Order: sequence, then structure tokens, then C-alpha cells
Amino acid sequence: MIKARIAASGSYVPETVLTNHDLEKKIDTSDEWILGRTGIRERRIASKDESTSDLAVKAARRALEAGGISAETLDLIIVATSMPDMFFPSTACIVQDKLGATGAAAFDLSAACSGFLYALSVGEQYIRSGTYQNVLVIGAEVMSRLTNWDDRRTCILFGDGAGAVLLSPSKSDRGIASVHLHSDGSLWDLICVPGGGSAIPPSEKVLLEQLNTIRMKGNETFKVAVRNLEEVALQALSADNLSASDIDWLIPHQANIRILKAVANRLKFPQEKMIINLDKYGNTSAASVPLAFDEAVRDGRINEGDTLLFLAFGGGLTWGASVVHY
Ligand code: UT7
Repeated sequence: MIKARIAASGSYVPETVLTNHDLEKKIDTSDEWILGRTGIRERRIASKDESTSDLAVKAARRALEAGGISAETLDLIIVATSMPDMFFPSTACIVQDKLGATGAAAFDLSAACSGFLYALSVGEQYIRSGTYQNVLVIGAEVMSRLTNWDDRRTCILFGDGAGAVLLSPSKSDRGIASVHLHSDGSLWDLICVPGGGSAIPPSEKVLLEQLNTIRMKGNETFKVAVRNLEEVALQALSADNLSASDIDWLIPHQANIRILKAVANRLKFPQEKMIINLDKYGNTSAASVPLAFDEAVRDGRINEGDTLLFLAFGGGLTWGASVVHY
């Protein structure tokens, strides 16, 4: 069976920086509380004329440039997002148009903060089956437009960004070893945006009560996140006959530094080998894993030959892990 490899990557974050000190002026919070409770110092906010597809396209162009391929040679574009440009067409179709990827099929995938890992697993299948040669997997979010800026429990957490990876067939036995995905729909209400869809369509009430923004039961989510991330990490390691000490870099979803420390402790994994950038970007949902990965590739921490563990967790609930021989 042909393996899929990550042939190139790219990422993009908007220019505007929103610091904890900026938030102190708007809501009853403090830099000390946010930093201590989450590890976040600042996040990026898309400009008024930037939509999710704009962020995605910038990350995609960087990935194509790094991979040395033109947009016309793409076979498939998958965009994982919780905040599409519009309900339809898919953001992936808008990205396809902006890139000029005329030969590609395109669709969106919705799995909240685990979206990138879900999309990676789909893209990987098309390469493994021999159907496609060049698949672009993008995680892109404008979370700032799903945020209730009056809710201090959630507005401190999220930021905007995009990350993209190009998947191609591997010529060796290196590549994506496996992807492990899980969902528990019975816990859908731990993190959700209840209003604005078909269940509670847009109305004055939706806007007044800000039902079109993120609701989160933070404490409960935290506990499930730690437990599930540990379990799925062990599942991915054992599927490839690896132990935690075989992993050169762990690239986790960037939700909260305390979650990452707890998972590292449980796995007996050194924190220095985790790629962490949530201090700069907060939680960028489906963008967080490819954004962290691309930054670490570009600054020379991640190198070819490294063994990587991707980990993600989010609304749905959804969670997953993947071992990649890069
Ligand atoms: O990406 C999807 C996955 N998402 C996650 O994994 C998020 C998981 N959850 C978390 O990261 C944490 O639960 C939070 C960071 C969201 C919250 O931290 P916490 O330690 O669970 O705090 P809490 O909600 O239990 O609140 C503790 C106290 C409360 O005060 P009282 O009721 O004890 O008097 C809050 O009102 O902290 C207060 N508080 C704040 N204080 C200052 C809540 N938010 C703030 C704030 N600034 N921004």
C-alpha cells in the first residue's frame, strides 16, 4: 500500500495582535489570570475584509511554494473549519477559485478543533488508494467572529489563523503511519455554537442572546480532553509499536497549556519536545496543529527523518492522533 507523506506546509496568521492587556481594558480579566490559567499571552484577529478563505489561501500558497508545485496540479482541496465563509458553497470551493486550482475537487470538513486531523485522515485515504497524487489539507478559522466578546470565560481563548499541508505519495516507507479518530456525540453540548443553523435559525433572539457564538463548559471539557488525549496518543503509539521516547516532536492542538502539561505528564513525555505556540496565537481550532507544525518546520526544529505525533481534541466531541514519519 502506498503511504501518504507530508510533502510541504504553509501557514498564515493575520497581522492584528490582541494581547491580554488589550482584553483587560474590555472585560473583567487580567493578564495574570489568562496566562496562569491558559498559557495564552496574545492572539491574532482577522481584519474586517479577511474571511476564512483568505487566511486559507495565504497558507495554501506558502505550502504550494514550499512543495514547488502549481495550484493546477492539485487533485483535491479539503478545508477543515468551524467558521466557513458562508453556509455554502464550501470554503474549499472559494479557496479553489482564489488559488486557480482548476483541476481539483474541493470540500469542507467539520470536526471543530480536531478538523485538521480528520481532514488529514481523509486526504491520506485518497493517496493510499492511488486515487490522487496531490491533496491539499487546510485548517483555517476566523474564531474571532464566533466569539462572544462579553463572555470572559471564552473570549480570552480563541484566535484566527490557517495552516496547510500538501500530501503526496511517499517513495519510501516514511509518511503517515496511521490516523486514529474518535467522536462522542453525547457530549455535543460541552462546546457548541447553538444558534444560527437549522436547529435555532437566525432571529433577533439569536443575536440578542448571542446564541451565534461559542458556549463552552470549560471545566468538564478540560477533564475529558486530558483523558482522551492520553488514550488516543497511546493508541497511535501502540499501533506503530512505538513508545513515547521514540517521538521526536509532539504537535498538539493548542487549547490550554495546563491540558498539554497534564497530557505530557501522563505520557511521561518531555515538555521541551512539544511544539507549543498558544502563547502567541491562543486556540485557533482546526488551524492550530498545521500552524504549529509549519512554524516548527520553518524554524528548523522539525526535520526530515523525525518521528512526529499529532494530537487534537475539540467540539463534537471529537479527538484523534496520528504518527508521522516525516
Ligand atoms: O479547543 C477545544 C477544547 N477546549 C478546551 O480544551 C478548553 C478547556 N477548558 C479550559 O481551558 C479551562 O476550563 C478555561 C481556561 C476555559 C477556564 O479555566 P478554569 O480553571 O476551568 O476556570 P473556571 O471556569 O473554573 O473559572 C474559575 C474562576 C471563576 O470564578 P468563580 O466562579 O470561582 O468566582 C470564573 O468566573 O475564574 C473566573 N474566570 C475569570 N477570571 C478572570 C473565568 N474566566 C475569567 C477570566 N478572567 N477571563
